[in-house]
Amino acid sequence: MAKVIRTIGVLTSGGDAPGMNAAIRAVVRTGLGKGLRVRGIRKGYQGLLDEEIIDLSARDVSDTIQRGGTILQTARCEEMRTEEGQQKAAAILKKYGVDGLVVIGGDGSFAGAQALANLGINTIGVPGTIDLDIACTEYTIGFDTAVNTAMEAIDKVRDTSTSHERCSIIEVMGRDAGYLALWCGIANGAERILLPEEHGYDESAIVADIQECRKRGKKNYIIINAEGIGGSIEMAERIEEATGMETRATIIGHMQRGGSPTCKDRVYASIMGAMAVNLLIEGKTNRVVGYKHGQYVDFDINEALGMQKGIPAYQQEIAKELAL
Ligand code: F6P
Repeated sequence: MAKVIRTIGVLTSGGDAPGMNAAIRAVVRTGLGKGLRVRGIRKGYQGLLDEEIIDLSARDVSDTIQRGGTILQTARCEEMRTEEGQQKAAAILKKYGVDGLVVIGGDGSFAGAQALANLGINTIGVPGTIDLDIACTEYTIGFDTAVNTAMEAIDKVRDTSTSHERCSIIEVMGRDAGYLALWCGIANGAERILLPEEHGYDESAIVADIQECRKRGKKNYIIINAEGIGGSIEMAERIEEATGMETRATIIGHMQRGGSPTCKDRVYASIMGAMAVNLLIEGKTNRVVGYKHGQYVDFDINEALGMQKGIPAYQQEIAKELAL
């Protein structure tokens, strides 16, 4: 028989992402609306191990849907990777009467949720990361805001790059994934996009292309470099040396993680947060919510963590063709 859920907990874990507050708000209000007690766990799994647990009311999440960051705060927690840490976390949840937990975060956070599920706590994961690197879903909370923030920043760099007839290398986040870089590259009309998924790049080909583009009258040359490749400052020095074209590197950095979430991030996060609670009420556990082929869906966490996704080759090809 499915476990009856009376109290749920919610935490955000790993890197923060705009839209996490919309998900927290949805968890709180869906839970309260369905007669559950809702507890907020501050600072991710670290806060759970430190027993930073509070009750949340509907008013506690008022005026939060438009705010960046996470009102519960977040952390990366090494201890939660150990069996001892996982057992301690499960025992604390039981002590506080939390029968169901919503974990908003990325793959690493889902591994923690999976461990807790194995220890008898019903858990549901909600994908939250600006990197879009969770294989079971085409949408992750925060990507849309982050990619728009990066796009606007790159537009600004382009203005000054054109004025000075420079090459600009702009590094975007994404850890080992190139989604932010690919989307910015297409949206900003970059001449080159360097993606970790391509396993290296040919700098001499870039140098030759810059020289060719100058002959064709291009007034700037924009390279979007993914964090997974990195080294933008040194790359700029080498390219300037080889081409004679003034080259500057800009690393956008954590600006991409902040700011008010876009409409898409608010809406998708709200739906996913509410879905997570409904799954818990149905007695489901060890599942992760996703968005695939135009539908909100849920997967077994074990299955989700085993999935692979990459950047479709045709999208990379289109980006190259459009850089003519
Ligand atoms: O996962 C989100 C992300 O911003 C990545 O793009 C980046 O590699 C990482 O987190 C940075 O982590 P931190 O904020 O801990 O430096």
